[in-house]
Amino acid sequence: MECVEGTLEMVDSLQLIYESWTEKEKVTGMKCEDNYMLKSIKYGDLPPVEGASKKNHHVLAYYDNMNLIGFTDIYVGYPDKSCLWIGLMVIDKKYRQQGYGSKIIDTLIKKFPNLSYGIGVDTKNLIGVKFWHKQGFRDLFSVHIDGTFGVLGLKKTV
Ligand SMILES: CC(C)(COP(=O)(O)OP(=O)(O)OC[C@H]1O[C@@H](n2cnc3c(N)ncnc32)[C@H](O)[C@@H]1OP(=O)(O)O)[C@@H](O)C(=O)NCCC(=O)NCCS
Repeated sequence: MECVEGTLEMVDSLQLIYESWTEKEKVTGMKCEDNYMLKSIKYGDLPPVEGASKKNHHVLAYYDNMNLIGFTDIYVGYPDKSCLWIGLMVIDKKYRQQGYGSKIIDTLIKKFPNLSYGIGVDTKNLIGVKFWHKQGFRDLFSVHIDGTFGVLGLKKTV
């Protein structure tokens, strides 16, 4: 599995993968945003921490045999300095349930070792909850409830 930094040339392909998350509105209450990948790559999707910097934000694209499989949108240093935050991860719909998501997490941890890893998963995203649990994200550190939607903050320590 090859991992490369997302570029402006890749925006359209990455946006299609992002939009292949057709269950997004049902599980998060929010539709896919137009130009999400463009904004993220161009300006960085920065967390609400003092001194947040674009240099710690990365959109990483993952290839297998030249096929673009999916991406992770990450920030190194959130919610604390020693944690890598996975803000978003989407596998192209046609490549799901083939072990790629698990391979991507292994690849990411090898690229950024010696950290803890954090995610926020929507409680209605049962596939996501099962996926992250299987990847070892088992330390519940936050619970956010907003109306009928909820987000669990989970960490994995390697
Ligand atoms: C969640 C997601 C990243 C998983 O990627 P994936 O490549 O399909 O996952 P894998 O094939 O590596 O599956 C690993 C484990 O996840 C769980 N899982 C994955 N897809 C599942 C499904 N459709 N139903 C139930 N469990 C599932 C299983 O435990 C699976 O292990 P198993 O095959 O031994 O049963 C992918 O479904 C996706 O991109 N979803 C849309 C976006 C999203 O929800 N992202 C996560 C929130 S940020």
